[in-house]
Amino acid sequence: MPEITLKDVVVEFQRGGRNAGTLTALDGFDLAVRDREFLCLLGPSGCGKSTALNLVAGFQRPTRGEVRVGGELVMAPGPARGVVFQDANIFPWLSVRANVAFGPLVQGVDKKVVRAQVDSYLERVGLAGFGEHLPLELSGGMRQRVGLARVLINDPPVLLMDEPFGALDAQTRIIMQELLLALWENERKTVIFITHDIDEALLLGDRIVVMSARPGRVKCSLQVSLPRPRNYQVTTTEEFMALRRRLFDELSPEAQRADRVEALH
Ligand SMILES: Nc1ncnc2c1ncn2[C@@H]1O[C@H](COP(=O)(O)OP(=O)(O)O)[C@@H](O)[C@H]1O
Ligand SMILES: [Mg+2]
Repeated sequence: MPEITLKDVVVEFQRGGRNAGTLTALDGFDLAVRDREFLCLLGPSGCGKSTALNLVAGFQRPTRGEVRVGGELVMAPGPARGVVFQDANIFPWLSVRANVAFGPLVQGVDKKVVRAQVDSYLERVGLAGFGEHLPLELSGGMRQRVGLARVLINDPPVLLMDEPFGALDAQTRIIMQELLLALWENERKTVIFITHDIDEALLLGDRIVVMSARPGRVKCSLQVSLPRPRNYQVTTTEEFMALRRRLFDELSPEAQRADRVEALH
């Protein structure tokens, strides 16, 4: 049985002001993600990617249709689903260590146990020695490492990532993508990773689902057969470039349509 399913999902937003009316963000959206699959959701800006992820996270309910994780209807956020956003979801007033310790402490895990776990996760994300720093003293990439450690320490079986590396410069993004690949090789989780970047989707995903311009639907699904473990080297292979061309052909008409849709609204 798939770990995550969205069945015939519709999401409508009511808007006021100059563009008052109903905006359909998702319409007839179907998706099934297998246990331990790394799924990349690829689509133009405004097509409903974040909306789809928010449904799985439990931040939002569908207008129609159903969203299930592990067979259960999603009614609210829960510790089994870790979420990582573009702006690392960290508390600026807490040290790196306190940020990473936050989840387990709230859940009542013994302080000594938490301390050892924090050390281990800081090490895994390359932040050993930065425990006493404040987030403000860190670069964007380092802050995303804290955000990752904060979520991974709860060991959620499902990881939901909404363009987590979208705000980073190109070099840092590659470093973070390779870090995520290495972490995922070690403890395979079911991942939904949102991006509008074809190369990022190909480098990371087992499978890529391309979304149409708004209202968002699934346009096509592409299995990524590139061998694992992967690193950035794979992006220069013939196979990678052939897949990139295919994805570009699927995505570019949607990006053009998305542009027109935005201009009309
Ligand atoms: N809370 C909201 N109220 C009204 N419209 C929204 C809301 N959230 C998203 N939208 C609209 O729904 C569409 C899809 O948004 P979103 O899921 O954020 O797209 P993406 O993440 O693919 O860029 C966009 O047109 C956006 O403006
Ligand atoms: Mg988004």
